[in-house]
Amino acid sequence: MSAPDVVWKNGRFGQTSRRDTWWLSPTLVFLGFSAFIIYSTWAAFQNQYYTFGPYISPFYSPELFGSSSHALFGPKPHWYPGFLPFSPAFLILWIPGLFRVTCYYYRGAYYKSFWADPPACTVGEPRKIYLGERSFPLIMQNFHRYFLRLSYIVWFFLVYDSIKSFIFPDGFGIGVGSLVLTINVILLGGYVFGCHAFRHLIGGVFDRISEHPVRHKLYDCVSCLNRGHKNWAWASLFWVGFADIYVRLCAMGIWHDWRIL
Ligand code: FES
Repeated sequence: MSAPDVVWKNGRFGQTSRRDTWWLSPTLVFLGFSAFIIYSTWAAFQNQYYTFGPYISPFYSPELFGSSSHALFGPKPHWYPGFLPFSPAFLILWIPGLFRVTCYYYRGAYYKSFWADPPACTVGEPRKIYLGERSFPLIMQNFHRYFLRLSYIVWFFLVYDSIKSFIFPDGFGIGVGSLVLTINVILLGGYVFGCHAFRHLIGGVFDRISEHPVRHKLYDCVSCLNRGHKNWAWASLFWVGFADIYVRLCAMGIWHDWRIL
């Protein structure tokens, strides 16, 4: 056992021989995640100001039921329990939410920043036993591969939204919002298609991938995205929140959507 391992297993909470700013990364992750969770929860409960012209907030898309012209199946259904608050976001936001919560990268990040397990590598943690992800509730993280499949569907709807964002009542055009929604699907695509589980699906299932040239090529592409998975994760998280803010502030009349073309 190496010396750092001894510190990690036997040291007091926070004890370490590290001299770098090891606490900075988990602190930033904690602040970033907390801000996003608070804002997205607030935005989901609003049930208003989520569309503006051809734009729809990615938090509300696909809008299955709702009061806007983007709703696929009409207004709030009669079977929806009357005692529950309603928002189109409630019907869809759980998919990208659980996809991110179970993401391999995010797990490593929020285990450190939210419950110090451990706070950072070779830093003493506030517990003596390690249960891993083999028992409830963390064994549920294995559902990531299924949320991945559902996230493809959501992503394709967002691509459709971004295409529609160029269609204005007077025809084709480009607004700042069109660019905001298009950048959103590019960043989300980089994140979803660089997923570790997707990498396994596309090529990791083979013993000798060199015998499958097309899948090998795709595997290389996914591996390329996968190498920057952390960056895609944060960039897409920030931008999807900004896209909601952009549509919301335009709908509220606070921001003006500038038409470039
Ligand atoms: Fe991060 Fe799948 S591992 S999205």
